[in-house]
Amino acid sequence: MTVEDKLVSCFKNLEAHIPYKPKLALVLGSGLGGLAEELEVDTVIPYASIRNFPSSTAPGHKGAFVFAKISDIPVVIMQGRIHYYEGYPMADVVLPIRIMKLMGAEILFLTNAAGGANKSFTAGDFMMLTDHITCFVPSPLIGKNLDTLGVRFPDMTCVYDKELREHITAAADELHIPLKTGVYCQFTGPAYETPQEVRLAGLLGADAVGMSTAVEAVAARHAGMRVCAISFISNLAAGIGTSLLNEQEVLDAGKKAAPLFKQLVLNSITRMGKC
Ligand code: HPA
Repeated sequence: MTVEDKLVSCFKNLEAHIPYKPKLALVLGSGLGGLAEELEVDTVIPYASIRNFPSSTAPGHKGAFVFAKISDIPVVIMQGRIHYYEGYPMADVVLPIRIMKLMGAEILFLTNAAGGANKSFTAGDFMMLTDHITCFVPSPLIGKNLDTLGVRFPDMTCVYDKELREHITAAADELHIPLKTGVYCQFTGPAYETPQEVRLAGLLGADAVGMSTAVEAVAARHAGMRVCAISFISNLAAGIGTSLLNEQEVLDAGKKAAPLFKQLVLNSITRMGKC
């Protein structure tokens, strides 16, 4: 099955269950999925109910499209994402992003848990992405171009939309949440990085390291979506902090930050609904 056939088939499969055209698509990262449960949900479409759709196997990722209104703005939420390290080809990793584009979403709001590579960061910080580095992972656009979505060689000068970033900054200001900004570097995982890999990422200009997000942003920009993203710095990356890394620490940190994170995301989306 070609990438295009799979996209069309998955979309046709779920089309009848879509309650309304979402304006914004929100992807909830590790430990942050609980946000969806606190909203007044209109429809849930489990990934498992969509034929040929990859299942989300990562810890802390539920696996469903959730439809809800946030301040009257129709939103589709990915409660759990697909990661490259789960063994799926990159085309599958970004399939849900492309499906949300076909649903009609104009804006993509990405969130993740990440390791802080910038020495001035502390665990618990929020970092709004200004740019990213994807050199360590294959491009999701490799293969026959999906001409119906975008051009062969899409521009990546401004992946993270300036106006959307201003809304996030204004939301953080209003909520008195100190907001860091920086560059996210995607690695494949699933192993956390070595200290030297983190130093390398830092030399390349990265402020945070993680295993998702950047390729989703690339696929979304290819398809003409406006993109913004926030990393929750769940831990200092290897060699930056003193402790060893483990998955439970990442999930627990996400849960602890969830109430503040929820306020930041909801306030930002409310502002974005007006643009
Ligand atoms: N590295 C990569 N991914 C992560 C990290 C990290 O330190 N923390 C949370 N996700």
